[in-house]
Amino acid sequence: MKIACIGGGPAGLYFAISMKLRDPAHEIEVFERNAPGVTFGWGVVFSDQTVENLERNDPNSARIIGSEFAHWDDIDVHIKGECIRSSGHGFIGIGRKRLLEILQDRARELGVTLRFNAECDPADAKWQGYDLVIAADGANSRFRDAHADAFQVDIDVRSNKFVWLGTSKVFEAFTFAFEETQHGWIWAHAYRFAPDCSTFIVECSEQTWRSFGFDKMSQDESIAACEKLFARYIDGHALESNATHLVGSAAWLNFRRIKCDNWAVGNTILLGDAAHTAHFSIGSGTKLALEDAIKLAEVLNRHGLSRDAALFEYQAERNLEVLKLQNSARNSTEWFETLHRYLHFEPLQFAYSLLTRSQRISHENLRLRDREWLEGVERWFWKRATEGCSNKTAPPMFAPFKLREMRLENRITVSPMAMYSAVDGVPNDFHFVHYGERALGGAGLIFTEMTCVSPEGRISPGCTGMWNGDQLLEWKRIVDFVHAHSKAKICLQLGHSGSKGSTRLGWDGNDVPLEEGNWPVMAASGVPWSPVNQVPVPMTRADMDRVRDEFVAAVKMGVEAGFDMVELHAAHGYLLSGFLTPLQNNRTDEYGGSLENRLRYPLEVFRAMREAWPKERPMSVRISATDWVGEGGITPDDAVQIAEAFRNEGADLIDVSAGQTSTDAQPVYGRMFQTPFSDKLRNEGRLATMAVGNIYEPDHANSILAAGRADLVALARPHLIDPFWTLRAAAALDYRDIHVPPQYLNGQAQLARNLKRDAEAAAAALKV
Ligand SMILES: Cc1cc2nc3c(=O)[nH]c(=O)nc-3n(C[C@H](O)[C@H](O)[C@H](O)COP(=O)(O)OP(=O)(O)OC[C@H]3O[C@@H](n4cnc5c(N)ncnc54)[C@H](O)[C@@H]3O)c2cc1C
Ligand SMILES: Cc1cc2nc3c(=O)[nH]c(=O)nc-3n(C[C@H](O)[C@H](O)[C@H](O)COP(=O)(O)O)c2cc1C
Repeated sequence: MKIACIGGGPAGLYFAISMKLRDPAHEIEVFERNAPGVTFGWGVVFSDQTVENLERNDPNSARIIGSEFAHWDDIDVHIKGECIRSSGHGFIGIGRKRLLEILQDRARELGVTLRFNAECDPADAKWQGYDLVIAADGANSRFRDAHADAFQVDIDVRSNKFVWLGTSKVFEAFTFAFEETQHGWIWAHAYRFAPDCSTFIVECSEQTWRSFGFDKMSQDESIAACEKLFARYIDGHALESNATHLVGSAAWLNFRRIKCDNWAVGNTILLGDAAHTAHFSIGSGTKLALEDAIKLAEVLNRHGLSRDAALFEYQAERNLEVLKLQNSARNSTEWFETLHRYLHFEPLQFAYSLLTRSQRISHENLRLRDREWLEGVERWFWKRATEGCSNKTAPPMFAPFKLREMRLENRITVSPMAMYSAVDGVPNDFHFVHYGERALGGAGLIFTEMTCVSPEGRISPGCTGMWNGDQLLEWKRIVDFVHAHSKAKICLQLGHSGSKGSTRLGWDGNDVPLEEGNWPVMAASGVPWSPVNQVPVPMTRADMDRVRDEFVAAVKMGVEAGFDMVELHAAHGYLLSGFLTPLQNNRTDEYGGSLENRLRYPLEVFRAMREAWPKERPMSVRISATDWVGEGGITPDDAVQIAEAFRNEGADLIDVSAGQTSTDAQPVYGRMFQTPFSDKLRNEGRLATMAVGNIYEPDHANSILAAGRADLVALARPHLIDPFWTLRAAAALDYRDIHVPPQYLNGQAQLARNLKRDAEAAAAALKV
């Protein structure tokens, strides 16, 4: 094949090498606009995995690259005058210039033609003369942009400013240095990539950048200002730029996240940064470029594959890896963009949050890297959780938590889940066993399902209620069992279905009206949940008074039943959520319009409930922190205000759910997918939160808690299938101080022994 590679960066050069290695008959020319040795940037970092891939692909160049790697293990986080060092991170770095020299030499050796000082124009007819044109021309690819529609390019320009500098100061550890200044926070990411040289990337928010006046400075002035700001880290060494062709503030960039739905159009194929970028804070852009190059060369030379089939395979096989990395990179990018959230953390927790920011590194992963450090974090966590009374080294999920006078044994909760099994709202034997069993299973707090304050307020005929004495007695039987036989506390979730009422049992069709016997529904406005649901009657002030009083009556029964806590359900599109979201509330009175107005009735209900509920017992509110509809719906910023408003009325905890408020919602599912909202509300609103949503591993819970993303962690579906989730986690983590019902002690001990033996056997097998 006759191939033109546009761009002599890592992607273009390594593709040329990989093709020649597979078939020396390919004719390959690499066109690079710069002269040899002229390039942007300083060092790049790799993981061990990337090195293994390079060794398999071309042992020759991998050996030379490997012999020049700078290795380091430690990460130092400098903040508020402290340096937090953790170990075991295993980085490898090399200078970008040196990497390119090695790849250029290897390409020449294999017969690739390198053409420097060759600016390429996508409109040039000569590209038609090549079988393939590889657009390896970087993030600002002209070849991609010439066919932006066909490649379906999506570019997201991020908000922070950064400048990529270098220095002769040799950093012993990968260093993050955060500095508070009169203009705001500014920080550096620094690492050594050669015996005498380090990368030094300076980053800050756009606001800080302008406030410093960087937008009006020349490059030399910017560098001088950074040298002054970071003087105590660089020990008199200079900071340097090698983007000297850029004038004024142009050396400062905004990171551009690029993705493309199509990677090949006609004979042009995107490779490396031209196809996708990954934020520099996870250091994987070069890895992706090199691995793209290997894969593309491999499929193009795969026996029996046509060119089109090969190109299809190339994208199909690389896309998943790229998406995973871009996902982690987005988390990391956002962490730096929302730094203000974490600045109130103590330095140790701040460092933990930084290390786990991309969600690729978890609590247990940190234990493998640096056990001693992680145990220090655990001790710190327990000390805070017990107001200094405990020095225990144990996973955060088992640390106690106090809300008013209620002390939880641990941080795991059974999330509210409708069981659709009541008759006339009365809980029965099913509920007794269901809640009893989950209390025995070790969770610190059990939520009841949404328990409705009136017959019309039910979602379905199977919902539990709290409006009469029979219900009260049955709930009391459950609460008494929980208190007598477990250490769990139990919270009554109270709600009213609003426009989502009068529907079938969950398993007969979610939100689908009853076949017969429907009752009229009411809501903030006459907006039906969906075209098949009833049009609700907009509530009058008299309706509002009545429903508020029903909530209060239910709370009083909750006191009599002995519940430890009450939660107001103001999420998921039910009655109160229907007041909060503009998608369901089009009232023109003081309960509609602005967020302040939409909050008025839910707050009134909450206030009345709080007055009826004992002062020493806590209350929570469940909210949907986003409507998942973008413009026009509740946004996470609105949710901070909503959470603060309830907190100001005496809510002790915000149960942070999301969505289910509109049939137009476009939720983004995934592992721990709603935790970012909890993180935002907790750390911007400075209030206690509970995270929920596809959290299913003990490791998830520990990572969320230690990183200060929530105070409690709720699991719903995992508890449906495994009431003993918490006891199982304790056995897996060899945590022995958890309360186990005496009847079950033998089982717990045996499970712990077996899991430990299995883990040891797996570790031994790995060593072999
Ligand atoms: C601040 C910063 C820090 C980074 N840190 C890391 C890191 O630590 N680890 C890591 O793996 N990655 C890192 N990266 C990302 C990394 O630099 C890129 O992902 C990587 O260089 C991609 O390789 P590439 O070959 O696709 O593109 P590039 O390296 O951008 O190469 C493209 C080449 O094409 C040439 N070119 C462009 N247009 C034309 C044209 N029209 N004609 C001829 N030639 C042209 C350019 O001169 C350039 O040499 C960082 C990026 C930034 C911005
Ligand atoms: C069967 C079932 C019933 C549910 N019922 C309720 C409910 O009554 N009240 C409520 O607030 N959330 C309810 N939810 C939502 C859960 O509490 C939880 O937020 C959601 O399932 C996401 O958590 P998970 O991924 O751990 O399952 C229910 C979820 C399920 C699966």
